[in-house]
Amino acid sequence: MDETAPMSTDPLTAAAQILCRSTRVVCLTGAGVSAESGVPTFRDAQTGLWAQFDPEELASPAGFQRNPGLVWRWYMSRLAMVEQAQPNPGHRALAQLERILPHFVLITQNVDDLHERAGSQRVIHLHGSITRFRCSQCGAPYQLQPQDREAEMPPVCRLCNGWIRPDVVWFGEPLPPEALVQAWDETGQCQAMLVVGTSGVVYPAAQLPVVAREHGATLIDVNPEKGPMADLADIFLQGPSGVILPQLVEKTIACRGDQHET
Ligand code: OAD
Repeated sequence: MDETAPMSTDPLTAAAQILCRSTRVVCLTGAGVSAESGVPTFRDAQTGLWAQFDPEELASPAGFQRNPGLVWRWYMSRLAMVEQAQPNPGHRALAQLERILPHFVLITQNVDDLHERAGSQRVIHLHGSITRFRCSQCGAPYQLQPQDREAEMPPVCRLCNGWIRPDVVWFGEPLPPEALVQAWDETGQCQAMLVVGTSGVVYPAAQLPVVAREHGATLIDVNPEKGPMADLADIFLQGPSGVILPQLVEKTIACRGDQHET
């Protein structure tokens, strides 16, 4: 492809051209990328988790202190759901982008491991992981035991007797510092940011696309709904990520093929 060639007027082709011309690409994902795997989002009106459950009770340190058993059982049921879920074509397309682009890093707000199971290797988990556990008092890591899955109360730490909790970020808690530093660093250097399946209302994650733009990166948003990210983006690709991303990969591969021929 000719580097000076004009951008296509077709948004999908233009997005592929941007990816193709960028040496560093970052992708920020949210719950929407896992929706087609059957993992519910948080804020979709009928099906979102926060439409049915109270985050103050289930996803805050105070809620855990008040009712550790309730929180534990809720996370065990979410863990079982995540384990049964399979990566969808959107996850697989992102893993493929990592393989075909020179530098591609995924920053996810999701606590599931579907990106990794789809083959992505460079994944930064901003909000932790539902498959890992640690002591809520001393922070010691904990290996989940089969009997814990059906237990009414969380297991206790062998070192300090504190309750064991999922290694996820709850409301009011800071993000894991290492993940945050890496995410900011990658974002400050990227030429293109792909934003996929996030409502863009939870900070500091929602700040990353703003930072990318401030550094001159081109923003591409993939979402069935037009939200704050679409308003910020240079290119809005409207539709489910399981449909749009494989098409984007196909066009990016074609674009890279053209590039190598010229
Ligand atoms: P939200 O539930 O806020 O937003 C999900 C987004 O996915 C919405 O913009 C939907 O339109 C979009 N969506 C739905 N189906 C989709 C599909 N098939 N393909 C692409 N997009 C689709 O989820 P997040 O933005 O991830 O935090 O929420 C951010 C954080 O809020 C979460 O990480 C969680 C939550 O509270 C913590 O747990 C700390």
